[in-house]
Order: sequence, then structure tokens, then C-alpha cells
Amino acid sequence: KFEGLADTPQMGWNSWNKFGCEINEELIRETADAMVRLGMKDAGYRYVNIDDCWHGQRDKDGTIQADPARFPSGIKALADYVHARGLKLGLYSDAGATTCGGRPGSRGHEYQDARTYAAWGVDYVKYDWCDTKGLNAEGAYTTMRDALRAAGRPILLSICEWGDNKPWDWAPNVGHSWRTTGDIYACWDCEVSLGSWSTFGVMKIVDKSLALRKYAGPGHWNDLDMLEVGNGLTPDEERSHFSLWSMMASPLISGNDLRSMPESVRKILTNKDVIAVNQDKLGVQALRMLTDGPLEVWIKPLAGNDWAVLFLNRGERTLERAYDWNKQPLSDDLSKRSADLKKTAFRWSDLWQQRTGDTKKPLALKLPAHGVTMLRLTPQEGA
Ligand code: DGJ
Repeated sequence: KFEGLADTPQMGWNSWNKFGCEINEELIRETADAMVRLGMKDAGYRYVNIDDCWHGQRDKDGTIQADPARFPSGIKALADYVHARGLKLGLYSDAGATTCGGRPGSRGHEYQDARTYAAWGVDYVKYDWCDTKGLNAEGAYTTMRDALRAAGRPILLSICEWGDNKPWDWAPNVGHSWRTTGDIYACWDCEVSLGSWSTFGVMKIVDKSLALRKYAGPGHWNDLDMLEVGNGLTPDEERSHFSLWSMMASPLISGNDLRSMPESVRKILTNKDVIAVNQDKLGVQALRMLTDGPLEVWIKPLAGNDWAVLFLNRGERTLERAYDWNKQPLSDDLSKRSADLKKTAFRWSDLWQQRTGDTKKPLALKLPAHGVTMLRLTPQEGA
């Protein structure tokens, strides 16, 4: 694969969660414009990703074409449009003969499609796993990796296999991220069955992904799926969702209608302090350090001896607590980092509310149902 494309988790937007197959080139252009106008680009979002259903048919040589009704100008023109705004273009395909939406997949056309994408100026390929009977997952994704490499243009490969073939065991050298579960659904902790498959609420995905932390690192991330911020969660749930994806070093791919998002949603998606935790150079996925009834405490070691600490209330009622920092050192075997807060005091700043303090005093927590407090800890001067 191409190195250096995802030293920190990729950030962008994707059409699927909000629009499904109802996409067209105006939507993509308007989204690119909104990304610049509304501060998403400044906050670090780069990729504008077209998911399933952009495809038309293959021509007589087998070259894939965009849907002529929805994308009359073609994908190359869209890539040019997006590039002119300092952004990058992502495109979707599938390892099988047809995509989940029933469009032509790349099976048997991998090298041809990779060359087409490179010629169009595509920067990112999300590669799905529908209609793959008889295919070996590692083999199929490796074929697309090699095809992209042969096409010569640096293209990020986002593996979308849902976790059934344990991509974390083989994908770090194949793609830049891999999905850990089936699709996300805009709910807190639900599981919605859709016949042969299920979709999962935010907390279900977190629970299924927490044991995979050792597989994540620069260039190879656990992908907890695209964000549902702006798609129907409560404001507290949206802040928690965004905080958890940042703590867990997941790609941050917004999935709402950027053109019409309320200011409250925009503020969540562009919180630079929370994004800095996601984009931290150390690239360590957070550890759930403590579970105490509805309260969870998550820690993420950051570059330069800082830590991010997340207090999460999974319960249905407001939770008030004085958290005593002395009780438990921050300690992470995986990164071999620890901090004894009895010996070393840290200053903290609250990344959602404008307040600061230090770890010498207990922390006054007041967490609404499904809400978080997210702090960044910095060793105190002279400590
Ligand atoms: C399944 C994937 O998991 C989704 O993210 C989306 O790409 C759909 N397929 C598109 O059909």
C-alpha cells in the first residue's frame, strides 16, 4: 500500500449515512463548497467521498462509467472541482461482482478499475464486501491494494469488510483502515436487525471495537464507521459519539448533510481540541480504564506526556460525582505509559466546556444521560 497517507486517522465526509443511493454531482460539489465555507476544511477534513450508487455500466472495453443521469460531467470533473478547493476525492467500489446497491463491482476488473480511478484523479477508495461468494477476503483486498499500487497514484484504501474475516489480523499491510463491525445506525445503544444483517448503535460499535486497540496505529486504523453526528442523536449523544471516535483513533468521516447543518452540529464536528486528540501523532487507541456502574473512564496517551481522559455516563440519569484522581494511576501497558497522579500533578482543560483545573483537587463531574466530560491533561510545570 502507499505509505504516509494515514499517519493520523483520515478525516472527511461520505454520502452514505444521510443520502444512500440518492446522490448526484450537485450534492458532491455543494458538499465540497460547504466543507470550505463552514470551517470543516480548516478543522482538518479533507476527503469528499462518494459512496455506493455513483456507477453506470461498463463500456464495451469493460471500463466503468459514472451514472450519466446523476453524474453527467463524470468523476474526473468532480475530482478537478474538489481539488481546486484543496480537498480530495474518494470513490466507492466493492470486491464482489456487484455492490451492495446492485451496481457493477470490481471483481475481475480490479486492475482496470484502479487505472480508471487513478486517471480520474481519485485519492481514496472505500472497498466494500457484498456479493463476494467464493472470495477470500485477504486475497481480494490484497489484489485491490496491488492494483492501486500498479496504477501509480497514491490512493488511500479503506477496507469495508465488517469484521467477519478479522481484517485486523491481515489488513495493516493491505489498507489504511478497516471496518470493525457492520453498519452504524443513528441510535445510542440499539441493534436494528434488517433481515440477514444488523446495524448497530454508537455504544454497540464501541463495545465491539475496544479489544482491538492493539491493532491500531499510524497508517492502520480501526474504522468504527462513519459519523452519525447531525443525523438524529441527542446533542449529548452527538458529543459522546464524536468524543469516543476521537479517543479510539477512528477515521472521522462525517455523514450528515453539511450544506444545511445547524450551528450546534457544526460546532461538534469542528471542535479542534477534540480533533487534536483523534489526530495525535502517537496514534494509540484509547483504553477503557474503569467501569463503575453507568460511569466509564477512558484514557488515551498523547504525544509529549499529555493524556486525554473521557468520563462517560452510559446511564439514563444525570450522574454527579467527585472523581478522586489519586485513587488510580493512569496506566497503559500497550503504550508502556503511566502517570501516578499522587506524585505528578497535571493541569487539565475541558475540551467541551471552557474550564480548567488540576489533578490535585477532585474533579466535579456532572454528566447528563449519555453525556461526557472530555479533558486533556498536561504535566504541571516543574513536575
Ligand atoms: C455497506 C457498507 O458497510 C456501508 O458503509 C455502505 O458503503 C453500503 N454498503 C453501500 O451499499
